[in-house]
Amino acid sequence: MPMLEVDQLTVRYGALEAVRGISFVVETGQIVALIGSNGAGKSTTLKALMGLVQPCSGTVRMQGQDLTREPAASRVTHGLALSPEGRRLFSRMTVLDNLLVGAHSVRSRLQVEASLAEIYALFPRVQERRTQLAGSLSGGEQQMVAIGRALMARPRLLLLDEPSLGIAPKIVAEIAAAIERLNRDAGMSIILVEQNARLALKLAHHAYALEHGEIVRAGKGDVLLNDPFVRKAYLGG
Ligand SMILES: Nc1ncnc2c1ncn2[C@@H]1O[C@H](COP(=O)(O)OP(=O)(O)OP(=O)(O)O)[C@@H](O)[C@H]1O
Ligand SMILES: [Mg+2]
Repeated sequence: MPMLEVDQLTVRYGALEAVRGISFVVETGQIVALIGSNGAGKSTTLKALMGLVQPCSGTVRMQGQDLTREPAASRVTHGLALSPEGRRLFSRMTVLDNLLVGAHSVRSRLQVEASLAEIYALFPRVQERRTQLAGSLSGGEQQMVAIGRALMARPRLLLLDEPSLGIAPKIVAEIAAAIERLNRDAGMSIILVEQNARLALKLAHHAYALEHGEIVRAGKGDVLLNDPFVRKAYLGG
């Protein structure tokens, strides 16, 4: 059974159809990339998966269970967590308190401690800065905290919206390595939304290109890296 099945999903903002009947699958244990230019509907797709915007039609199924009408909080308990575009940290709270925000659905203190230990192992910089205010961190460090906060919910399917946006190349490499480790070592399924198509296609088992709310290309990451259309549209030729 796939981790996630999206069928004919359509999302409107008033008259604007931001997502137009898209269908895709995330197999268990896979990294799936969603690439596409500004306004293609990538973030809207993730928000609809998370229950933060309501689709006007279509279904979202996770491990066979229909979540289309479930509120966001209950999707978290089903194993979905989102690290949103722009990070959205509480800048005047400490790093640790930001992480704990992500754990509000977790009842066991032991599990919270275990998650913190895992995140600190994944991002040693986050541990070093845990008592600092989140707003005092670099963009890259804040991104690590945002991913950590999503991980605190102990997701089975992690949704990452633009984790590389506006971040120094060295830190992008650290974040990419962390994404690979989560997938390989923890078996986590991941949807990776990126404008950095080269990075996303290198990391992804499977990828979809979105344009104007529609899927215009689908295939294995390494196949799309060499696809003439994808090269021209997203990889600079
Ligand atoms: N809350 C909103 N109200 C109205 N229109 C919106 C809203 N959010 C997004 N849109 C519009 O929906 C379309 C898709 O936006 P979305 O944010 O999903 O794109 P994206 O692929 O994530 O783009 P980017 O790469 O810039 O993050 C765009 O035309 C955008 O202007
Ligand atoms: Mg976006």
